[in-house]
Amino acid sequence: MHVDAAIRSRKSVRSFLPLSVPRHTVEHILEVAARAPSGNNVQPWHVHVLTGEAKHALCSDILTAAANPEEPHHAEYSYYPDTWFEPYQSRRRANGFGLYETLGIARDDLAARERQNLRNYQFFDAPVGLLISLDRRLNTGSYMDLGMFIQNILLAARGQGLHTCAQAAFAWYHQIARQHIPLADEHILVCGIALGYEDPDAAENTLETPREPVASFTTFHGFKERELAPAARS
Ligand SMILES: Cc1cc2nc3c(=O)[nH]c(=O)nc-3n(C[C@H](O)[C@H](O)[C@H](O)COP(=O)(O)O)c2cc1C
Repeated sequence: MHVDAAIRSRKSVRSFLPLSVPRHTVEHILEVAARAPSGNNVQPWHVHVLTGEAKHALCSDILTAAANPEEPHHAEYSYYPDTWFEPYQSRRRANGFGLYETLGIARDDLAARERQNLRNYQFFDAPVGLLISLDRRLNTGSYMDLGMFIQNILLAARGQGLHTCAQAAFAWYHQIARQHIPLADEHILVCGIALGYEDPDAAENTLETPREPVASFTTFHGFKERELAPAARS
């Protein structure tokens, strides 16, 4: 698979087929992903891979906790700003509404939205769930390294015909995760990743997320105005 094809075919899949993924396939994906660059090659990532009863037990406890509003859970790092602002606010809204639209969930149907949100904690029925953690004694730069490692997992999964969904949602339930996996005290649970075979018939998997054009986020300097791309020259 050309690297562009792997990148372009990756998308967040939120419904998976009930097909298992063998351990050696996960090991291969992680071995490839670990080729990610990291500042001074510190390789700050740690991964817990769950399947079967181990995954089921974790998911079941998180869902019980999530159903209890008296029991507040917080992530150990700030993923999002406290107050949203443009242009990010609009993109975020469009993304949420886009997902609910694929599922026929009305914008004001908060109960149905919450039910969909809770599917996060079943890894969207993926056969394998990964939990990614980072040593809290490292610094913010290591989040760049971790992001590259995570993206490599998502892309290496494509090479195996698998799909994924990165899931920050798990960060909120690190206390529950600690009851199930030996997550060192100094480790922050950064995110989960659902891994498996896409259910091609699932409505939520039809979501196509837009991207801004290159010109909207890039400023070129020192290029000649009329320079042509190699393909256009031949
Ligand atoms: C670090 C990270 C965490 C994410 N967490 C969640 C999550 O908890 N639940 C979810 O449904 N999607 C999650 N997503 C998926 C994003 O919503 C998705 O990447 C974005 O809407 C773009 O869509 P695409 O992945 O299909 O290209 C996450 C993505 C990233 C990169």
